Amino acid sequence: MFNIIVCKDYDEVSSEAFKVMRETLDKGNPVLGLATGSTPVGLYKKMIADHNSRGTSYKDIVTFNLDEYVGLPKDHEQSYYTFMHENLFNHIDINEENVNIPEGNTADPEAAAKAYEDKLKQYSVDLQVLGIGSDGHIAFNEPGTPFESETHITDLAEQTIQDNARFFDNDPSQVPTKAITQGLASIMRAKSILLIATGANKADAVYGMIKGEKTTDCPASILQDHESVYVILDEAAAAKIR
Ligand code: PGA
Repeated sequence: MFNIIVCKDYDEVSSEAFKVMRETLDKGNPVLGLATGSTPVGLYKKMIADHNSRGTSYKDIVTFNLDEYVGLPKDHEQSYYTFMHENLFNHIDINEENVNIPEGNTADPEAAAKAYEDKLKQYSVDLQVLGIGSDGHIAFNEPGTPFESETHITDLAEQTIQDNARFFDNDPSQVPTKAITQGLASIMRAKSILLIATGANKADAVYGMIKGEKTTDCPASILQDHESVYVILDEAAAAKIR
């Protein structure tokens, strides 16, 4: 079931997303599913501000990230490991041993995917933060990914490579072509989902997710089957569902 909130701008989107996060945090030591990308940065800023002002502690909180590029060293400036540390983990009191991010820079990525899914299954994610790709992907589950997929290695869609080139000197040839990603079934196990999307380039994907047919052509449409999905949008991303 979708609970849709449309906001006037990015700051309001981040505030509304933080309200959902805070409710989860207030329940005490939740397992958090976290996402990278530009969209959740405002939410993470609000989590850091709340940690500083209210003293909300992450000491006993376990996190699982959705995905990581294959073949980038952990300390590469565009790795999701680096992104999460710069945008959140370095600014809160989380225990590094409670942080889980798929291992993309390994000789055997398939084995890393299996190990990640096995560990994820030992936990129950209370709240999964998600962005959405302009092609309807969630995590790196590109169009055509089976709904029953678990953590796996995938090729990035051409549209995703183009979308992400802005982080790689606007040069698509520098964007890694493969990623390790939680699958759609992995994501669907989360108790609640917090999907954030802003900007006109997300409007078609948001429409497909909420009002479109449930089809692997729009991977996010699987969320129609989830019992608790908060969708926080700005007006541009919501333009086609109104
Ligand atoms: P973005 O990415 O937040 O950088 O737009 C979202 C996604 O691809 O899931």
